[in-house]
Amino acid sequence: MPLDELSLYESPAIPPKHDYGIGIIGAGAIVRFAHLPAYRKAGFNVIGIYDKSPEAAESAAVEFDIPTVYNGIDALLDDPRVEIVDIAVPAPFQPEIAHAVIATGRPMLCQKPLAESFDEAKAIVTAAEAAGLKIAVNQQMRWEPAIATTRAFIERGLLGEPLVSTIDVSIMLGWEAWPWLVVSEHLDLMYHSIHYQDATRFLFGMPDRVFTSGGKFPDQPERAETRTHTIFEYDSGLTAMVRSNNWNWTGDQHAICRFEGSEGRIEGTLGLLYNYPHGRPDTIRYMSKKLRPDHWFDVVVEDLWIPDAFIGPMASLMEAIQTDGVPVTAARDNLDTLRTLFAAYRSMETHRVVAPIDID
Ligand SMILES: NC(=O)c1ccc[n+]([C@@H]2O[C@H](COP(=O)([O-])OP(=O)(O)OC[C@H]3O[C@@H](n4cnc5c(N)ncnc54)[C@H](O)[C@@H]3O)[C@@H](O)[C@H]2O)c1
Repeated sequence: MPLDELSLYESPAIPPKHDYGIGIIGAGAIVRFAHLPAYRKAGFNVIGIYDKSPEAAESAAVEFDIPTVYNGIDALLDDPRVEIVDIAVPAPFQPEIAHAVIATGRPMLCQKPLAESFDEAKAIVTAAEAAGLKIAVNQQMRWEPAIATTRAFIERGLLGEPLVSTIDVSIMLGWEAWPWLVVSEHLDLMYHSIHYQDATRFLFGMPDRVFTSGGKFPDQPERAETRTHTIFEYDSGLTAMVRSNNWNWTGDQHAICRFEGSEGRIEGTLGLLYNYPHGRPDTIRYMSKKLRPDHWFDVVVEDLWIPDAFIGPMASLMEAIQTDGVPVTAARDNLDTLRTLFAAYRSMETHRVVAPIDID
């Protein structure tokens, strides 16, 4: 089939049964900008919401026609109509809530990071597996159009042997809207670059070594790192870089990805980050070394990171429930992303290369 006719991008697949009753814990920015618009677009059945701020829950319920506002987590978990729990609260509070959900025997979608420590994340996975429950993590960048398209190119052999991967984001991301992040001990790697690390793993697998250098800017209000460079080195010879700079005050910002293999090269822009949280469509282009080395094939996509990619983790969890399969962003798999994350922190602290397999 000629390349021009290849359909390389597909919107997140919605499984045949998708009317599970969803109960959401947390009604903050990400739920209102991303989860709820995505679920409405997908036709999911959100039946209730709880937030420790009743005003936040109430106004989300009004905006998105959610029938029930609970007055506590127990009330949500006591509701037999809730079949899947969607947690979206700041990470320090997530483990306790996750264990409460597991105790009621429900599958759930957790936010990233699954926990702020590897031990806490492992404990959630172990408890869920002991209870036979499906748990996914909202690493929805796997459905982000440029990443999903790149994965399709790789699966069709169009990249060849992967050699260089670059995700390079230089933006001005004001964290003031998240006071808990401004004072957090961890910032860019744990709350932002974790997406790029997970996407890199999704495309190329687990790196063998990680090196990270990072720091702050003199005038930033945030307590923790806002600029990081991370190198993933693979025994295969692949080098993958994630660069994230959140303090580019110039107005000339960029969010690009480049994937180079023995057979082809993919270049893209991550549209969301040019106008967060509204975004613009990604650009994605591909050149084949053998087929037409003088021609860029453009892949046109209309879907956006927000809201479309946010359909992916919930749809995949639903699919796993009805087929007894494994969600694309299963919490067990997410432990490997947390291994690269905590390897990156250890590397940044020690100025040494760290093997993620040593994080346990
Ligand atoms: N997957 C993604 O792309 C993505 C993007 C942004 C944020 N997040 C994650 O989502 C989570 C929430 O982020 P946000 O941007 O919505 O933050 P936010 O500060 O806008 O909202 C957090 C909400 O959680 C509520 N809350 C806090 N503790 C609670 C508790 N114990 N029980 C019930 N409600 C509680 C707060 O009242 C608030 O309404 C964070 O873990 C963040 O890392 C993920």
